[in-house]
Amino acid sequence: PAPQRGAVPGTDFTAVAPNTEDRVVTAEGYQHQVVIRWGDPVLPGAPEFDPANQTAEAQEQQFGYNNDFAELVPLDSAGRRNLLVVNHEYTTESHMFPGYDEDDPTEEQVRTAWAAHGLSVVEVERVRGGGLRVRPSRYNRRITATTPFELRGPAAGSDHLKTSADPTGTRVLGTLGNCAGSLTPWGTVLSGEENVDQYFAGADAVTDPVAQERLARYGFSGSSSTRKWERFDRRWDLAREPNEANRFGWVVEIDPHDPSSTPVKHTALGRFKHEGAAVQVAEDGRVVAYSGDDERFDYLYKFVSRGTVKRGQSAHARRHNMTLLDDGTLYVAKFTGNSPDSEIDGTGRLPSDGAFDGTGEWIPLASGDESFVPGFTAEEVYVFTRLAADAVGATKMDRPEDIQPNPVNGRIYCALTNNSDRGASGSAGPDEANPRVGNKHGHVLEIDDDATGTTFRWGLLLVCGDPDDPGTFFAGFDKSRVSPISCPDNVAFDRHGNLWISTDGNALGSNDGLFAVPVAGPERGFVKQFLTVPTGAETCGPVVRDDLVTVCVQHPGELDGASADHPASHWPDGGASLPRPSVVAVWREDGGEIGRR
Ligand code: FEO
Ligand code: CA
Ligand code: CA
Ligand code: CA
Repeated sequence: PAPQRGAVPGTDFTAVAPNTEDRVVTAEGYQHQVVIRWGDPVLPGAPEFDPANQTAEAQEQQFGYNNDFAELVPLDSAGRRNLLVVNHEYTTESHMFPGYDEDDPTEEQVRTAWAAHGLSVVEVERVRGGGLRVRPSRYNRRITATTPFELRGPAAGSDHLKTSADPTGTRVLGTLGNCAGSLTPWGTVLSGEENVDQYFAGADAVTDPVAQERLARYGFSGSSSTRKWERFDRRWDLAREPNEANRFGWVVEIDPHDPSSTPVKHTALGRFKHEGAAVQVAEDGRVVAYSGDDERFDYLYKFVSRGTVKRGQSAHARRHNMTLLDDGTLYVAKFTGNSPDSEIDGTGRLPSDGAFDGTGEWIPLASGDESFVPGFTAEEVYVFTRLAADAVGATKMDRPEDIQPNPVNGRIYCALTNNSDRGASGSAGPDEANPRVGNKHGHVLEIDDDATGTTFRWGLLLVCGDPDDPGTFFAGFDKSRVSPISCPDNVAFDRHGNLWISTDGNALGSNDGLFAVPVAGPERGFVKQFLTVPTGAETCGPVVRDDLVTVCVQHPGELDGASADHPASHWPDGGASLPRPSVVAVWREDGGEIGRR
């Protein structure tokens, strides 16, 4: 079908057609530029990237690998100077190191990988009529898998969090698996520690049945780890340090305004595969943080603070506000559909009331030191949150990824990326909130929440896939006009309240991309693709400003059989180069507003 354009401010552009090109393709009339790539200097005096001679010392000063979440934290009211804060989710050693031997990594490669994890803070300035330029700056910072973090909140100091290196259970080295995130209203960044199980060896050697059950529920398995880190630091070996794994899987908070600040892990938000976390301030000033657990059949959570927010961007206000996520109530979501079960047939066809929708309940798990889950202490609720949520009958979802409040309509939007096991034998069948068996393409959930209350209304905005597939839904909009979309992952909003969605793992056979969709008015559901990313890459971390869009291009060239010796992508440097995860800025050729004629 011909690319379509709409008329809603913010989404008024001509859609990019699906493609499989090894480059970034933007909507017509837009230009783009790579802002920063894996290996580019971050700290003053950092060496230039030298792929044949990578060292941990160099990587500690350079931009990390596999950028996922990104945010632009304004340093001035004009939005000219910003701090670009970026997560580096994981490393793909076979794509990073030419000649890499996965059975026998060198210590230098392992230490380089530690340094390639974590986050980067980089000052960037707007270029007149263009994108962003990286500046040398006192704010520039690398946080890695060895940077000290403070564990805070009700589980800090718990026996479950003590190790031989940290008998206090309050100080952890590093952050891992940092996937999505958000900017808080007080100018800090939240980041979710997601797939932390992959870093640990020795689960097989644990014999205590309670410990075994907990490890299994969090995906820890096997004897050695993929990356063999346990050979160079005992803390990655569960047989020797059984509690080290409990110190990962949290929401972390970083103050990018203070490069000497110690980042925090907030235990009050529970421990699971946090995709990210995002905060909304309720009318009474309490803060509500939403977070998804990105695993098949896992849950959606929210946290409501006890304290209230101090307004303003002073360091004093920030210090106070950074304590809000340490004391409050943690809830998990239960969804109830309003259509009869017989009408949820697993195909994605709408029930007779014309909507996948219903009501929901937030089930409290713990508040401060008080547990609401029989058989669990409060510390157990926070550290083994998945098991506590299992016990209260929360709704098993199709991999909850990013969840964010829409600043214009106040509703909460969550990407459920896919779940090929939905309806498989021995697994949960379809329900109204997860209506497709073998859900390959995912869906997008819209929640009307009573922010500090315990009830909500919900509906599916999108049931993704090829619009020709009768089991897809685009909020009732004319499906002959929309872009195909598959595997939604991150969500963001422009100033008009339009929803922007980035995808990871497009199961329709073309490259991933960034999409915009109005959520109000006659074009509600009119999904249009704004850009596509190179071969094998995922699109993530979208930021949408009036005249600038940034996205992270994660794992370009990550295809079966590809390696640093035979890359499947040469983006962005071309020639015979290694692919490099990078942040991309997009702007309108004529300098005008994004998506507005
Ligand atoms: Fe790292 Fe849930 O995507
Ligand atoms: Ca219904
Ligand atoms: Ca993600
Ligand atoms: Ca994902």
